[in-house]
Amino acid sequence: MSKLLSMVSMILLHGLLNRVYACEGDCIVGITNAFLGNYTRPMNIALVNLADSIVSNVIQNKNSPVAPLSYLNPVIAEYNRRAYDYMETAIFKDYFHGKCEDPDTGIDPPGCPKPDCDVVCGTPGSMVHFYSKLRYLAFDANIDLFNDIVAPGSDAYKKVENTVLAAVEASRSGSNKQRRLLRFMRRTDSIVATGSGSLDSRSNDNSKEKRSDQTKSELRSLLNQFRLLLTVACGGGQDGKTNGIPFCTWEDTFKPYILSFP
Ligand SMILES: *[C@@H]1O[C@H](CO)[C@@H](O)[C@H](O)[C@H]1NC(C)=O
Repeated sequence: MSKLLSMVSMILLHGLLNRVYACEGDCIVGITNAFLGNYTRPMNIALVNLADSIVSNVIQNKNSPVAPLSYLNPVIAEYNRRAYDYMETAIFKDYFHGKCEDPDTGIDPPGCPKPDCDVVCGTPGSMVHFYSKLRYLAFDANIDLFNDIVAPGSDAYKKVENTVLAAVEASRSGSNKQRRLLRFMRRTDSIVATGSGSLDSRSNDNSKEKRSDQTKSELRSLLNQFRLLLTVACGGGQDGKTNGIPFCTWEDTFKPYILSFP
């Protein structure tokens, strides 16, 4: 019994000692949430720009009856649902984890675990030393998650696509004589070209189908611009250079925050 107790207390002590020099628990949660919180603004700027382009270039409705951003609601909801886990994995599980000590000597290199550790490991000192890498991990995580959410065939994408397709049709059925004329002219052209006098519902279906294909491809090319949009919102420079994405760096607040964890 006492043997078991001492084993348990050794395990507890070990955990406690580990806690002293690694970013886990509160440190992981705090840093993940801080990045997500600080990214709220640039993410919103990028999403608003994207939504505005969808309304003005794809739907082509100057008097959109709804806020453009609402077309992206299914994507935003999915982002909010998955962002925490995605960000935590990108920063910690995939990169900043493990001990800093030299596996041969078992000795921590100078500055490890704090305050400035030039080995990639799961400690505040390592995150401070590789801060430039850390901020790009957070930047890329937002983009990769967005791209995953809007992948062709995903639930969120299909919802957006359906709403946009419906909005295109609705915006066309508004009284726009110019467009009706153009449509009529095009239809007449095709009648002449094919020689078949099919001013029936079939040709209507065909042009609607064409229109829908075009809408889908325009929507796709705008969604594929998200990396560029977030890069612009972050002040430019996605090449991993130290002076890139200046508005998504927050170095002065983040370094002390990271080092505030034990
Ligand atoms: C931004 O990050 C800092 C830590 O660097 C944190 O204290 C702050 O709460 C974060 N801001 C938001 C809005 O989450």
